[in-house]
Amino acid sequence: MKKRVLTGINTTGIPHLGNYVGAIRPAIEAAHQQQAGESFLFLADLHALIKCHDPKRIHDSSLAIAATWLALGLNPDHVVFYRQSDIPEITELNWILNCVCAKGLMNRAHAYKAAVDANAGEQDPDYGISMGLFCYPVLMSADILMFGATHVPVGRDQIQHLEMARDIAARFNHRYQPLFVLPEAVVDDNVALLTGTDGRKMSKSYGNTIALFDDEKALRKQIMKIVTNSLPPEAPKDPDDSVIFAMYRAFADETAVAVMRQRFQDGIGWGDAKQALFECINVELAPARERYHELLARPAQIEDILQAGAAKARKESTVFMERIREAVGI
Ligand code: ADP
Ligand code: TRP
Repeated sequence: MKKRVLTGINTTGIPHLGNYVGAIRPAIEAAHQQQAGESFLFLADLHALIKCHDPKRIHDSSLAIAATWLALGLNPDHVVFYRQSDIPEITELNWILNCVCAKGLMNRAHAYKAAVDANAGEQDPDYGISMGLFCYPVLMSADILMFGATHVPVGRDQIQHLEMARDIAARFNHRYQPLFVLPEAVVDDNVALLTGTDGRKMSKSYGNTIALFDDEKALRKQIMKIVTNSLPPEAPKDPDDSVIFAMYRAFADETAVAVMRQRFQDGIGWGDAKQALFECINVELAPARERYHELLARPAQIEDILQAGAAKARKESTVFMERIREAVGI
């Protein structure tokens, strides 16, 4: 069977350096190693509605994320790049899969169980949980099964959702016809985990992020804010215990990293280390930052690219949906 890679990006928020190092950069590299047309990458804006109820933020985030991926070199002619909500067949399949999926399977989802735990003590812990959250893994299955994905690159937290997608696909195949490919999760354990300005994992949830495409001045300011210890400038410093060195490593090449390691051991002032880090990140991001702002200034161009992607995707989804309808008898 032909390898087909598919992954979704939630459109909640503005990408930060951690997203870039851990998700965007490796995904673009991997997509371009695939044959043309065999890598599907989409903006999961229907999923975003579960967590984010601010229409402007949803809208702006879709544009910002599309512009980010394009600015960083994603070639929309090589991959199929689209917005989930532009593919109505996905929501149609979602319903059909809802009728196949056991409720008991969804009761076991980590995200749902965590939401119930968070409401413990309330009269009805389920009351504050939307059906969107509860059925999230079904919609994710529809995303994946619609395009016959064989490999789905995801973070560790998503492995359970892939198992559910396989379970739902197998039930459908057994009940009706074997139409669906059973997908596999691909988890890259070597992917760099970037630390944030406070030393914890960089994450929107911790408010310790550095935005990917802030202007040069803001980027420098954010880097200067990284928390360090109070060793004097000339004191030798342990590179392996430093947020600054860890970030530097995610951006610089091997030779530069070796030089920086030595500078740490010889004693480098934190101000100098931060300045070097800023310069190194800025060099990598400056050209893409410029393209990002150019793209954001022309949202119609982004929209055209997404529409072209949707047209490519729908060439498959409309035909496949016909077969699915026929299989279930509608
Ligand atoms: P956040 O934690 O900021 O909410 P998301 O959960 O939206 O980020 O993550 C989107 C993608 O970026 C995921 O693939 C995730 O693994 C990756 N990612 C997020 N934060 C980091 C980080 N600090 N280092 C590396 N990768 C990250
Ligand atoms: N749930 C994924 C996440 O939180 C995003 C996503 C939605 C996805 N649909 C998908 C990932 C389909 C892979 C395949 O990261």
